[in-house]
Amino acid sequence: AGFLSAAPVSAAAPISAPASSLKLTVLYGSESGNSEKLADLSAKEAKKKGFQATVKNMSDISPADLAKVENLLVIVSTWGDGEPPESATSFYKEFMNGSAVHLPAVRFSVCALGDTAYEKFCQIGKDVDARLEALGATRIAPRQDCDVEYEQPHAEWLAAALKSFGPAAPAAAVVAAPAATHVAEEYGKKNPFPSELLEKVLLNGKGTTKETWHYELSLEGSGLTYDAGDALAVVPVNAPDIVEGILKAAKLSGSESVEVKGVGQKILADALREDLDITALSRAVLTKLQAISGSDKLAALLADDAKDQLKDYQWGRWIADAITDFASGGVGAAELVTIFRKLPPRLYSIASSPLAHPGEVHLTIASVRYQAHGQPKKGVASTYLADLVAKGGKVPVYTHQNKNFRLPASSDTPVIMVGPGTGVAPFRAFVEQRGATGKPGKNWLFFGDQHYTYDFLYQTEWQDHLKEGNLTKLDVAFSRDQPEKVYVQHRMLDRAKELYGWLQEGAHFYVCGDASRMASDVHEALISVVEKEGGFSREVAEAYVEDLKKSKRYQRDVY
Ligand code: 2AM
Repeated sequence: AGFLSAAPVSAAAPISAPASSLKLTVLYGSESGNSEKLADLSAKEAKKKGFQATVKNMSDISPADLAKVENLLVIVSTWGDGEPPESATSFYKEFMNGSAVHLPAVRFSVCALGDTAYEKFCQIGKDVDARLEALGATRIAPRQDCDVEYEQPHAEWLAAALKSFGPAAPAAAVVAAPAATHVAEEYGKKNPFPSELLEKVLLNGKGTTKETWHYELSLEGSGLTYDAGDALAVVPVNAPDIVEGILKAAKLSGSESVEVKGVGQKILADALREDLDITALSRAVLTKLQAISGSDKLAALLADDAKDQLKDYQWGRWIADAITDFASGGVGAAELVTIFRKLPPRLYSIASSPLAHPGEVHLTIASVRYQAHGQPKKGVASTYLADLVAKGGKVPVYTHQNKNFRLPASSDTPVIMVGPGTGVAPFRAFVEQRGATGKPGKNWLFFGDQHYTYDFLYQTEWQDHLKEGNLTKLDVAFSRDQPEKVYVQHRMLDRAKELYGWLQEGAHFYVCGDASRMASDVHEALISVVEKEGGFSREVAEAYVEDLKKSKRYQRDVY
């Protein structure tokens, strides 16, 4: 309920929307489900205010459809390096570059979701906002750019936008709000569940260069549920050495008392450990540090013409490094805490089926550790689980729905899964789920990693699934077991004929894992398979794959 509190919620709700009420379209583009959730919530709030609100996914409409819309709210997220959500890509491309539709009758406002840790923060929302205006639409409320903590900014934006659309018709009839009844607070984003770590197994063998862990957590008594394909949010704390690093750079002891926005009064060292994102060196952080330190060197790095130098500087550096470099005299405790944003939870693709492991949730996570500028660096959440939580310890978690990564509705439909490295996680859930629901359709997994001997994640489980018929085919690519690199996409090409045959039978095609290279290489391989085996031109093959996406038979969970 706290989530909604900033939006004015009318004490009374209309029984039914009056005929004269304003029509409103809430359009969203969602990758991991946050924009979708906010779109549903926005429509619900708008209805309470008498709007006739409908929710539309960018994946289901074309830009030309906007010409028919009068009042429009857009909620869209930005992914990675300024990318639109996968399912919104076609809409976005056509809207930005396609033959222009004129939208003089449209009144709109945009809420952009993003992450200030990335350079192109909220880029897609910014693009859509500017494009709507360029096409003649009228912006009735300013765009809202939201960081990871989007609830409050969204609620404020929504309240302002609904007000600006003008008076929706008054409620035709009012009913008294139901009497408040006390309900036990639910576990979720606002109130993560302290989940017991039941099991923790290192999946790589001796000799490996990797550190991939299998974690089993208890959801017993949490009321939290999930489906195969969903994610688990883990709320980490910062490691002691990272906290030490900040204190040392800022020349503080850590025992200072500080006021943390949205948290309250705290001892500095505790706030640094529990509440604040003290590593990710974003432009936003550097800008605040510059304002505090007045460093000319840092100001030069933040100049518009220094984007490449800034990127170079950010690589492999943490906030403590920047404090040392640009505020060598130290930073006061009260000022220091204003530099950081709140420590965001991390989402991991769930590796278990709830049917195969009732009351549990499993994760497959590679610990991120590397050397940069002669110093060891690490990922906050992956090493929190690896280094700071022992078996029997508690991990704050909540489940996160991912409707864009779902098994086919029918268990007879064939499924093809491509998941190298930790990308295999949701496919462990898929294969378990299909096995547990009985009479499974055909399932084909492409897995890859560096070495067969050390890095074949869940090897014995796959062998059992093959024996039991839960898995029909398994193709593996061990990239470093021979002089030349062999990747999952090479295996797809080796099996082109059969793969195309499965697609022609209606198979769904799933990809999970590395977004920077693997996902696009696999996408290319898929087009090549269709081109070669279908005897099509490249253009027709691209359209075929695009159709797979549109009909939700091609889904990706990439990071
Ligand atoms: P590499 O590390 O030997 O390059 C899981 O990390 C596996 O994915 C590893 O075998 C890794 O190989 C491989 N990999 C790296 N880049 C890839 C790409 N562009 N496409 C597919 N697999 C890739």
